[in-house]
Amino acid sequence: MPRQFFVGGNFKMNGSTESIKSIVNNLNSAKLDASTEVVISPPALYLPLTRELANEKLGVAAQNVFDKPNGAFTGEISVDQLKDINVNWTLVGHSERRVILKEGDEFIARKVKAAVEGGLGVIFCIGETLEEREANKTIEVVTRQLNAVAKELTKEQWAQVVIAYEPVWAIGTGKVATTEQAQEVHAAIRKWLHEAISAQASANTRIIYGGSVSEKNCRDLAKEADVDGFLVGGASLKPAFVDIVNSRL
Ligand code: 13P
Repeated sequence: MPRQFFVGGNFKMNGSTESIKSIVNNLNSAKLDASTEVVISPPALYLPLTRELANEKLGVAAQNVFDKPNGAFTGEISVDQLKDINVNWTLVGHSERRVILKEGDEFIARKVKAAVEGGLGVIFCIGETLEEREANKTIEVVTRQLNAVAKELTKEQWAQVVIAYEPVWAIGTGKVATTEQAQEVHAAIRKWLHEAISAQASANTRIIYGGSVSEKNCRDLAKEADVDGFLVGGASLKPAFVDIVNSRL
């Protein structure tokens, strides 16, 4: 079975009631490639609005989730609370949380486990900084990030995970990875899946690219054998997102 192309829109800490209504209404009425899975991720505050307004073809993801069940965790949101409002996906391990909020590999891995065990789909983000790339540590870094999650999940649970490779130096910089750079890392991740998890996980897990994806560069990236979609930041707030969803038409 071929892997279904997957395009996520990460709004980050952007938007207002008015602008999010307008983005979702635009997506509801747009002609989107029916063979592509589309999941949008507004700030937590707008998750109920987004889920209520978006048509049933659009998935909705939280940008983060906590690793513990409901309880005394001020400011956090639980897996059960997301499910309560019909949000079936969450991002985990975005580099802005790793770098700015100092979330570590083990904490992130526990969140992936909590989300997967609660039945959510997880867009698990990994990627190296510029410093790490320049030191030729890209594969070492993504392997370390993947290994942390592998310790927490069963082989079968990888079916609920989409891996987002987002080089930190490409995020919000306009400096997109070349098609060769993206394919090289995606192929290495697929090889890791084969060796560390299973042949099935390697064949079936979507590996998507994020970092300055635009309506201009998405078509070439989408042609790479191991690029199964995108995680889009800035451009997901614009009408250009529709062109990215339709990058294979
Ligand atoms: P940009 O598309 O704005 O570079 O952001 C990418 C990203 O971080 C998506 O999660």
